[in-house]
Amino acid sequence: MYPLKTRNALEKKIPLIAPSLLAANFLEIGKDVEMINASHADWLHLDVMDGRFVPNISFGLPVISAVTKVSKKVNDVHLMIEEPEKYAEAFAKAGADYLTVHIEACRHLHRNIQQIKGLGMKAGVALNPHTPVSELENIIADVDLVLIMSVNPGFGGQHFIEQTYIKLRQVREMIRRTGSSALIEVDGGITTQNAALVVEAGADVLVAGNTVFSSPDPAATIRELRQPVTVIMP
Ligand code: DX5
Ligand code: ZN
Repeated sequence: MYPLKTRNALEKKIPLIAPSLLAANFLEIGKDVEMINASHADWLHLDVMDGRFVPNISFGLPVISAVTKVSKKVNDVHLMIEEPEKYAEAFAKAGADYLTVHIEACRHLHRNIQQIKGLGMKAGVALNPHTPVSELENIIADVDLVLIMSVNPGFGGQHFIEQTYIKLRQVREMIRRTGSSALIEVDGGITTQNAALVVEAGADVLVAGNTVFSSPDPAATIRELRQPVTVIMP
């Protein structure tokens, strides 16, 4: 009599955790990388800043080369730099597994993505908080990762921007509609309080800097961030 309702399936999803080295103790980076290696973290997030695209300078190629030699995790390099095409090859040689460029820094984004993949890396595109998700429409099928900034890039330890939840649902829907296999990563202000909500909204990978490295027990905090979350599958 009544049409059968199609039910959305519930699924337990475990997010990938990517501690951000930006919040590590730079006098003892080796120790912090060993701590990450021994933890349940999945990826290691490496933030590169040039003082032009963002108002801060972090670390670059020599540090990343040294870190990837000892890192046992997926090396996830987030470029907050202008003209990333000039350095893509050098980051491949430095051991980047994922290389993510900002959509706002790329005049020829499609070419940049092809270049990164041609160098044997997974290619990501990052969106600043003000950049609409619709900008991804013509590139979503080509990328391996979409990084949604949930703070303005340049600094760790900032507060999560709530609008991010809406953007995550929009990216999730675009991925579903287009059949893209891109992962969704969220970067900035992730805490043990908001992690489950962010995953529920669509995130696959959580970057966490201060939440992990300011914790008295970083390995336990990583386990806490990595809790399974019940999500509705479309
Ligand atoms: C900010 C960086 C982030 C930063 C996150 O520009 O892209 O990866 O390390 O730090 P928290 O988790 O402390 O906000
Ligand atoms: Zn980052």
